[in-house]
Amino acid sequence: MTVLDIPELALVALVGVSGSGKSTFARRHFAPSQVLSSDTFRGLVADDENDQSASADAFDALHHVAAIRLRRGLLTVVDATNLQPHARAGLIRVAREHDVLPVAIVLDVPEAVAWERTEARADRTFGRQVLNRMRRDLRQSFGRLAREGFRKVHVLRGVEEIDAAEIRYEKMF
Ligand code: GTP
Ligand code: MG
Repeated sequence: MTVLDIPELALVALVGVSGSGKSTFARRHFAPSQVLSSDTFRGLVADDENDQSASADAFDALHHVAAIRLRRGLLTVVDATNLQPHARAGLIRVAREHDVLPVAIVLDVPEAVAWERTEARADRTFGRQVLNRMRRDLRQSFGRLAREGFRKVHVLRGVEEIDAAEIRYEKMF
């Protein structure tokens, strides 16, 4: 079992390519109300969870809700790929504005696994090149997360380690 220590009040960014299992992980470890998913917010602002042209508005709304939750002292999980520095910077900013620790949980599965899962989904229609680019962004992310301001960076490598992970909440003083 891999124990992931997380402050009781944190902004948790899941980081991983499409098909790495972020939404599955979020469902398993957190309450639905704790999880802000980019897909859900695209649906809310565009009636279409896959409308990528709605991403800017969707993240605007997501950041706004995250900020309100943090102000109210509620642990918040962001279920988005979070593969690009500018996407993560927005989350770091919201966390800092509310004196909340930003934490990253990286799900790193082999590209073949992510591709197989993605191909099996009717709601994901992008090509292998897109996944390839996400993998490249992920590789570049590893060395950057702590420097960007994430106070804890948990990296889960492979399907088994992801399966065996448990969250442990640290009391704050
Ligand atoms: P995006 O939302 O596209 O970024 O993907 P995601 O990272 O949220 O992946 P998601 O959790 O939706 O998982 C993708 C597919 O893989 C789903 O059909 C899941 O059922 C499957 N899946 C996720 N995690 C596991 C796992 O641990 N084991 C198995 N067998 N399947 C998994
Ligand atoms: Mg998902």
